[in-house]
Amino acid sequence: MVELLPSILSADFANLARDVAAAERGGGSVIHVDVMDGHFVPNITLGPPVVKSLRKATNLPLDCHLMIYNANDYIPAFAEAGASWIGVHYEACPHLHRSIELILDHGMKPGVVINPATRVEELLDILPMLHHVLVMSVNPGFGGQKFIEFSVDKIRKLAEIRQELGLKFKIEVDGGVAHDTIERVVKAGAELLVAGSAVFGSGDAEKNARELLIAARSAAGENQQG
Ligand code: DX5
Ligand code: ZN
Repeated sequence: MVELLPSILSADFANLARDVAAAERGGGSVIHVDVMDGHFVPNITLGPPVVKSLRKATNLPLDCHLMIYNANDYIPAFAEAGASWIGVHYEACPHLHRSIELILDHGMKPGVVINPATRVEELLDILPMLHHVLVMSVNPGFGGQKFIEFSVDKIRKLAEIRQELGLKFKIEVDGGVAHDTIERVVKAGAELLVAGSAVFGSGDAEKNARELLIAARSAAGENQQG
């Protein structure tokens, strides 16, 4: 079952509730929230107070993608704010196992995110603990960047590993997911599809989300009415 995760990074920050509602009407089923610290990535976005406001604005799960150092210091605050899923970066968390345990202890679903240059094999030992693995298909920090082609091979590899090991984690992809790439990432095995500029960048977010989801479901061979 493929799902569309609209990324609010490309939404209007003064009208988040309106934009999230539009993306939800178009079939977005999880809201992707990009948290950036200006250190791990060269951009600053938002933190727990905005998550708290979003929590009141929608019933959809909130997938918080933490592009920050010292994530462990902030995980309790994100839980308190109402985050549902937390993804931490492999490259930013020296004690990754501890980070995952902390996320679980706070009742949230844990994920690990890997940058384009990080091999999926680095995650082998931690995979059984994860709800999702997020393959970055751009270098994190900004919306609207060009999709990095070899991400498709990484998604495929991850899907093979999941099959071989009989694991259940979901495969998420983030960066440059749009009409020209969505079919390939779905066919490679991604089921959680993050899209920022393709949903909120221009035009009508509801229509954009609906059309992306139709393309994703048709690539997955799913019933488009479902
Ligand atoms: C980038 C963020 C993405 C971003 C994707 O660092 O993690 O979630 O919103 O934007 P698009 O879909 O425009 O590439
Ligand atoms: Zn993201």
